[in-house]
Amino acid sequence: MSISKNIKTEDTGMEKHVPFISAKECATCGELSVTIQVGQNVIHPSTVEHSIKTITLYGKTKEGALKQLTLFQLGDENTVARVRTSVIKGTFTELIATSYCNLHGLWEGSLKI
Ligand SMILES: [Fe+2]
Repeated sequence: MSISKNIKTEDTGMEKHVPFISAKECATCGELSVTIQVGQNVIHPSTVEHSIKTITLYGKTKEGALKQLTLFQLGDENTVARVRTSVIKGTFTELIATSYCNLHGLWEGSLKI
């Protein structure tokens, strides 16, 4: 069994799981400010019984290598499924994020930069 066959990329239900990545360029610092939110318009629930446990960000290099950039572990409840980090501008061609829901599994979203 391959883990890639178990990663979902499109939401179909009411609850939203796909990590939506946005990147804003800092004109003076050479960085991209990156926000990852689980659910673009409807944020994922955050309760003891049902929550996002991890959000991981990867960067795809110009040579095609995939590098893990950050791993966020979220709390069981009262945690908004949104995280922020920064990456060096010009290093990556694409950002890929995964989110893990304790009830609904592993999800993936990406952004070409
Ligand atoms: Fe869920």
